[in-house]
This record gives sequence, structure tokens and C-alpha cells, in this order.
Amino acid sequence: MNIFITGGTTGIGLALAKLYLEEGHRVGICARNLSKFPVEIRNKYKQLSCYEVDVTNREELHKAVTHFAPVELDMIIANAGRSVGAKSKTPMFSVANEIIDINVKGVLNTFDIALEIMLPRKKGHLVATASVAGFMGLPGAGAYSASKAAVLKLCESYSLDLKRHGINVSAIAPGFIDTPLTQKNNHKMPFLMSAEKAAKLIKRALEKKKVLYVFPFRMKIVVSILDKMPRSLYRMLMNLKFLNYSEE
Ligand SMILES: NC(=O)c1ccc[n+]([C@@H]2O[C@H](COP(=O)([O-])OP(=O)(O)OC[C@H]3O[C@@H](n4cnc5c(N)ncnc54)[C@H](OP(=O)(O)O)[C@@H]3O)[C@@H](O)[C@H]2O)c1
Repeated sequence: MNIFITGGTTGIGLALAKLYLEEGHRVGICARNLSKFPVEIRNKYKQLSCYEVDVTNREELHKAVTHFAPVELDMIIANAGRSVGAKSKTPMFSVANEIIDINVKGVLNTFDIALEIMLPRKKGHLVATASVAGFMGLPGAGAYSASKAAVLKLCESYSLDLKRHGINVSAIAPGFIDTPLTQKNNHKMPFLMSAEKAAKLIKRALEKKKVLYVFPFRMKIVVSILDKMPRSLYRMLMNLKFLNYSEE
């Protein structure tokens, strides 16, 4: 398969790239700073292509994806994303704008470009890394929650729209995964999972063409309870001191 992964230099994207490379697939990855990508992997796999590209720049991303797979693109994983960093009770709108640009517009750019290649063949798989944070408005992470909620809804809609064109769409909603993104967190991260284990689970879900995959299983249970409970109860819970974060 020809597989392109945005945000493939570290964390979940890197673990996925390694898995697919080990199986002999052609893999293209991109990120803004390729020096984060392990040199030994770059030297080991001849079927790997790396592009220094920002997903918010449609033109740059278009050049990279069409260079990697001008005609046959089997799967694209819109995985590039950023989180809040230090949480704040005062909304930080410059950070919020950046989060929306990367996490939402970046996914739109990625899918737009991939579809240009996939639609004529009536074949392909669009994947986006959302998050369990997209199921509820998390305190201190409004823009991140909103960005991931948008990704979940976009994928649900596109999975309905694109099925007739032979295109599968999947949204992946991980809980806490041990990556540079979460290593900055100073709050508790229940059910924390390694990026390698996460990548294996994601790959298996993608083989089954799941439209939505929420994991780890215990986090899925917690999130479905939080998502379905009356919002007044949810707000009460989130205001409890032991569940809250202190402002930095
Ligand atoms: N870790 C978790 O617990 C967790 C949970 C749920 C969802 N997720 C989601 O999973 C995805 C991957 O996160 P991760 O945890 O693996 O984080 P990570 O290790 O920080 O990886 C993020 C990747 O995205 C790239 N990236 C960031 N902004 C970019 C941009 N504008 N253009 C191109 N590439 C960009 C980064 O490289 P550069 O900075 O060099 O560009 C890096 O390769 C994200 O969408 C994240 O929201 C993570």
C-alpha cells in the first residue's frame, strides 16, 4: 500500500509509520521539523519518503502528497496535531486559533488533497486522529476539545458521503498515549498507553475499516458515561477539586 501520514516524526504518527514500514508498505510522512525523525529509520527503509511541510499550508502539502503518490494513494492519516500545552482558565485565543488551524484546517487540507488522487480510482481510506477530548468540553482545553469534536463530526459525515465513491473514512479517538504531546502534561493521565501499543490497535481498527475507534477500552467506557450523562452532572463533576487542574 501507499500510505501518507501527517505528523509522522514523533509519537503516534511515528509508531504507525514504523509498523507499516516493517510490513513493506511505501510510507510518506510529513512534519514541520524533520530533524525529530529518527535517522536510523530514515536510513533503514528505502520505501520511506519524508517531507518538511506544515499541514496548514495547502500548497506545500499538495506538492508533498502528489510527489509521494501522484496516482495511487491507498491511505492517508491526518494525524498532525497540537494540544493546549499549559492549561489556563483564561482562554488563550492565539493558541486556540493555532489549534483550530492545525487540528481542523490541517485535516481538511489533507483530506482535500487525498481525495483529488483517490476519487478517480474510486478507492482509498481517509483517516484522522481525533481524541476522546472531542466527546466533551474539557476544562482548560476548549479549543482542543472543539477541534477534535469537529474532526469526529467531519469523519462521520464524510463516511456517509464518500461510501458511494468507494472511499472509507475512519476517525481514531485515543485516550492518553505516551508521546511528546502528553509528556508535557502535569496532570494525572489514566490508562496511559505506549505509542507502539496504540499504533498496533489503530492499525487493526483500520484493517477492519472502523468508522470510529475509541480506545483504550477502559477510557471508552469512562468517556461514554461522561458523554451521555446530564450536562449539569458533568459540570458538577468537572468542578470537583480532585478532577480539576491548577492554573499555571
Ligand atoms: N498523545 C495523546 O494522548 C493523544 C490523545 C488523543 C489524540 N491525540 C492526537 O494524536 C495526534 C498525534 O499526537 P501525538 O501524541 O503523537 O503528538 P506528537 O508526538 O507531538 O506528534 C505530533 C506530530 O505532528 C507534527 N505536527 C504538529 N503540527 C504540525 C503542522 N502544523 N504541520 C505538520 N506537522 C505537524 C509534529 O511535528 P512538528 O512539530 O515538527 O511539525 C509531530 O510529528 C494529534 O492529532 C493529537 O491531537 C494524541
